[in-house]
Amino acid sequence: MKDIDHSTISADDWDEINFPRPEEQEFDRVVERAISRRGFLGGVVAFGSGAAAMNMGLLSATSEALAMGTSRFPFSPIAAQTDFDVHVPEGYNWKVMVRWGDPLVSAADGYDVAEGGPVEKSDMVFGENTDGMETFSYQGRQLIAINSEYTNRKTNLPAAQEGKPANADDVLKLQNLQGVNVMEIAEGADGWSVVKDSPFNRRIHHNTPATIVGPAAGHDLLKTAADAAGTTALGTLNNCGSGKTPWGTYLTCEENFNGYFGSTGGIPESHADSFKRYGVGEKGWGYDYHVWDERFDVSKNPNEPHRHGWIVEIDPSNPDAAPVKHTGLGRFKHENAEVVVAADGRVVVYMGDDERGEYLYKFVSNGVYQPGGSTEGLLDDGTLYVAKFYENMTGEWLALTPEATGMDAAEILVFTRMAASAVGGTTMDRPEWVAANPQAVEAYCCLTNNKNRGVKPNAGGDDTSVNGPNPREANRYGQIVRWRPNDDDHASADFDWDLYVMAGNPTVHSDDRAGSKNVNAGNIFNSPDGMAFDTTGLVWIQTDGSDKNEEDFAGMGNNQMLVGDPVTGEIVRFMTGPKGSEVTGLCWSADMRSMFVGIQHPGGSWPDGEGLPRSSVIVIKRDDNAVIG
Ligand code: FEO
Ligand code: CA
Ligand code: CA
Repeated sequence: MKDIDHSTISADDWDEINFPRPEEQEFDRVVERAISRRGFLGGVVAFGSGAAAMNMGLLSATSEALAMGTSRFPFSPIAAQTDFDVHVPEGYNWKVMVRWGDPLVSAADGYDVAEGGPVEKSDMVFGENTDGMETFSYQGRQLIAINSEYTNRKTNLPAAQEGKPANADDVLKLQNLQGVNVMEIAEGADGWSVVKDSPFNRRIHHNTPATIVGPAAGHDLLKTAADAAGTTALGTLNNCGSGKTPWGTYLTCEENFNGYFGSTGGIPESHADSFKRYGVGEKGWGYDYHVWDERFDVSKNPNEPHRHGWIVEIDPSNPDAAPVKHTGLGRFKHENAEVVVAADGRVVVYMGDDERGEYLYKFVSNGVYQPGGSTEGLLDDGTLYVAKFYENMTGEWLALTPEATGMDAAEILVFTRMAASAVGGTTMDRPEWVAANPQAVEAYCCLTNNKNRGVKPNAGGDDTSVNGPNPREANRYGQIVRWRPNDDDHASADFDWDLYVMAGNPTVHSDDRAGSKNVNAGNIFNSPDGMAFDTTGLVWIQTDGSDKNEEDFAGMGNNQMLVGDPVTGEIVRFMTGPKGSEVTGLCWSADMRSMFVGIQHPGGSWPDGEGLPRSSVIVIKRDDNAVIG
């Protein structure tokens, strides 16, 4: 295996270098299919069933809405940008609220990111690489929980050779700078800031004890030498997107947890297949946790990776409550968790598994949510499903049961990817965030891109030929699929689907790479990722893609945030991030007058104007302080 610095390549690319996938063997079949599709081509965006979905009314309404000036957006869209700054429309303003390394408690004052910061204070500051976040109102206070997804070892360990940890303290520092930040925030004359020393402020990091609950808790697969009961894990890893329960708790989603593990003594044969599927190998991302912290050495603790890759619930109002890992929601590279309550009160959780050719999932609880009632079991006692999309624009949720998968109940949850393969779910173009429309019974999922579509199978060897919601080979731009459950019931087993948008570049391409009809020279973007609806039913879309602004990506500029109207299909650009950054994480203050937006891995010296760039959460407001969603 090669020694690659994860911070310079994507997690997916890292996985593929370490776990090479066979090139598509059925080459003839792929070619044959491509040719037959070409026969379908009529207009610019006609490319099979996906296009059929988009040409049925929905997007033809877009141009009419634009022509009639009926846009619901109360601002003038902004142009693409390529500088190292943030841009918002006229009549709006933005300010930094918190940066990587900012102290959450007075004891951490003076923490200096440029010097790498002392290990003793590294769990008292705002972590690095902000991602999903949610706000909570509690006893008149505004609380916020924010993920810190990963860390840049070279900048945090400037004294270490090539950022390689030289001792256990170096590893501990990296572990402390990731996880979750729970904070009280308040708005003053100078805008929003962290309430330093609030009793609610706490860091949850890679060593914080977390309770494991649900059907797989205590199973042999989750037992380790340090936890013979298999019910208490240490830490939550690679916290990507977020979710929020109706009962006011935070859901943090463990994504590329595999990159933290390594081995000093090979891979145990008993674990080889599942490790391959999940990308656990002998070398981690270069953090070298396994060299200095035996827990991450899979030759010594082969079950430790089974204790990560879950959805984790955190009560921001109770600083003493341990995080809870819910095995009922399955184990995979979780992007986010969108929770909705079905008509009959059952809790439905939509979840994507972000890797090329992996799946989209749904959990439906057995019990019902009653405000103020017990919530025990609502995220564990139920059925997990994988999505199956059909070419005729319908789909169904396939239950991952022992009968259907040939696996026992705990195995289905620990090795969910294999269970989904067993029932033949639809392989997707990297499912990122799922968002449900509060004004209509429908949900959307960003399928960010997939250069392997029609080129290579997924990590389990499953067919990744083009299919309905993933209609483009070597898909570099991404799309957003949406589904409407039958009977207006999110708990329903069946749904209809279409594509809300197919990203592309009509200034460069005239084939399916031009994108759908609601993509034009004025709003072009690639790689939709973060996504959330506001209370009015507009959908906000954040991107994490190429910002090179040339060739296929000419005119798209930096990563950005757009807003879409689900009814007309219209999409406009609202914000652009600094060059180098990904825009990820979005939530609102209780009064909806402030929007919190995450800027991850910015370039240049943003936001300070000098020194290291620092991932930060910004606040966007209207100049007139009116509501903003
Ligand atoms: Fe952490 Fe798939 O984004
Ligand atoms: Ca993401
Ligand atoms: Ca992404």
